[in-house]
Amino acid sequence: MTPRSAVEALRTADIEIVAKIHATCFFDAWGPSMIRQVLDMPGTFGLVARRQNYSSIVGFALARVAADECELLSLGVASEYRANGAGTQLLTAAMARAVSERARWFFLEVAEDNEAALRLYGAHGLTKVGYRLNYYENADGSKTNALTMRCALPDLV
Ligand SMILES: CC(C)(COP(=O)(O)OP(=O)(O)OC[C@H]1O[C@@H](n2cnc3c(N)ncnc32)[C@H](O)[C@@H]1OP(=O)(O)O)[C@@H](O)C(=O)NCCC(=O)NCCS
Repeated sequence: MTPRSAVEALRTADIEIVAKIHATCFFDAWGPSMIRQVLDMPGTFGLVARRQNYSSIVGFALARVAADECELLSLGVASEYRANGAGTQLLTAAMARAVSERARWFFLEVAEDNEAALRLYGAHGLTKVGYRLNYYENADGSKTNALTMRCALPDLV
């Protein structure tokens, strides 16, 4: 498939639009100041997917490397641009960045009913390693369990 977006480092000027996309993706939305705080944590990096020829941002990834692990903190694609490969591009770019920072493991948490994300993660070698009961709160007050997923990263050659 020809990529329809290009992945780049998240810049300060991108934070507002990333917060807008985050709010469309998650009930527990991270506003601009929260995203700034996350990016200020040691080892954290952000990526954005930009629509080619338009430069508008369609998705983002936030991740943090600590010791030999990289945690995917958040990943989202604006709903109108989903199922076009941007999520895959962001995930693989985050994994590549983790490898470049010498991480050996990549892990994340995901709602157990998030079919699109589970399919994306499963296709990239992530497997279930843990379970967090009632981890996410939904708009209606109900709770959803989370799965912890992990995979080994290739060595930097
Ligand atoms: C999960 C998410 C990032 C995927 O982004 P995307 O740009 O649609 O991903 P891609 O186009 O690269 O597709 C990745 C896989 O998900 C599948 N997929 C996409 N939308 C889907 C849907 N609605 N239902 C089931 N599978 C879906 C695709 O088919 C693809 O799998 P395949 O290549 O085996 O067919 C996106 O759905 C999203 O932002 N969701 C809301 C936020 C979220 O859940 N983030 C992850 C939290 S851990």
